[in-house]
Amino acid sequence: MPAYAVLGAQWGDEGKGKIIDVLSRDADIVARFSGGNNAGHTVVNGQGKFSFHIVPCGIFWPQTMNVIGNGVVVDPDVLLDEIDGLKEQGMDVADRLMVSERAHLIMPYHVALDALTEQARGKSAIGTTGKGIGPTYADKAARTGLRAADLLDIEALYPRLESILEYTNAVITKVYGGDAVDVDDVYAKCRQWSERLSPLIGPVERIVNDALSAGANVLLEGAQGALLDLDHGTYPFVTSSNPTIGGVSVGLGVHPGHISDVMGVFKAYSTRVGTGPFPTELNDDTGAHIRELAQEFGVTTGRPRRVGWFDAVAARYSSQVNGYTSAIVTRLDVLDGFDSVKVCTAYELDGEITQEFPGGVAALERCKPIFEDHEGWDSPTASATTLEELPKQARTYVQRLEELIGCPVDVISTGPHRDETVLVKRLLKV
Ligand code: IMP
Repeated sequence: MPAYAVLGAQWGDEGKGKIIDVLSRDADIVARFSGGNNAGHTVVNGQGKFSFHIVPCGIFWPQTMNVIGNGVVVDPDVLLDEIDGLKEQGMDVADRLMVSERAHLIMPYHVALDALTEQARGKSAIGTTGKGIGPTYADKAARTGLRAADLLDIEALYPRLESILEYTNAVITKVYGGDAVDVDDVYAKCRQWSERLSPLIGPVERIVNDALSAGANVLLEGAQGALLDLDHGTYPFVTSSNPTIGGVSVGLGVHPGHISDVMGVFKAYSTRVGTGPFPTELNDDTGAHIRELAQEFGVTTGRPRRVGWFDAVAARYSSQVNGYTSAIVTRLDVLDGFDSVKVCTAYELDGEITQEFPGGVAALERCKPIFEDHEGWDSPTASATTLEELPKQARTYVQRLEELIGCPVDVISTGPHRDETVLVKRLLKV
């Protein structure tokens, strides 16, 4: 009964979409457990190029059931758009997609509040994706959220919505000076969502647990990354959910004993979007060069991503929190042609050398990276499918990452296409 977690090991955007697509070949169920449409997962395969925000990336393999767990927050409009988009491309996914009845809904007023709160934060804005994620999780914790199950009981939803909006509209108008949201407009949307989504809403937790008991392979699709985790990330410059391993159990109702493998997906360098500390950031031509070369612009917001060298201090911390059994290194090909490549192995903090990742952002802001230089490689890694095809220096670089992260690198991604992958080991049991 193995469940395999594939987690973002840095600040998100590590290329998990492609990896999930590759590994789903051997999966029976692919399950999202946290985050929402703040995620942007890109898949390039024989069927084309796709960008998903909410539909799990296992959807291209016809044997997979794709589920959205209770820990995810769902914007029904985005989900319906993705379902319609896939249908236009000839894939009817309705019978292979299920949303947990316990998943919280992102409502139009959450999106409005996301913008208003960011505006009010001024210089200390988090740089959210603006998709309503924080306000939806805040309502969940405040017990004023609406869940997918509420769409199944649409008559009972109206009085709840009325009471929620009485409070929320007071906040929107009196605290932030925004425009009140009309209860009837929102309710009309809920009715439409109810009509279209009701057949897809179901007992995801039971289905995943039954499948695990029957010996099925369940792939747990992470979104965002460990350093954006609400508890373990660079708070307050984080997202509002737990993309780390504990989030799997909470966000799918799967107990930790089911999880046999934890794969941490690392880019061969680092990126971050939004504000917050980033010790290895390259604010120079090299950073700009990598950004252009790798087209490091957000799938969700189009924002340019901040770029830096690989940070092994952060990587070890991420590994400690998640207990990786395998590492997956993506975008190695981006570093093709560099004279040298750097890795940060320690920080200097207030005159002391440390290998600890500080808990406070003020301390992390003061950390200066200590770099180790690696010889670059002339011949390309791009499109390689075996270790032997990689230039010696690239292999040495990956081996060093392996030592620093503290677990084997079992997959290397050498390009965006499904086939541009070095599978050192087949990770899901068949
Ligand atoms: P939120 O999740 O939209 O509230 O944004 C909070 C922070 O997390 C911001 O810095 C976002 O840029 C970042 N973030 C959220 N989702 C992703 C992602 O999928 N990739 C990278 N950064 C993300």
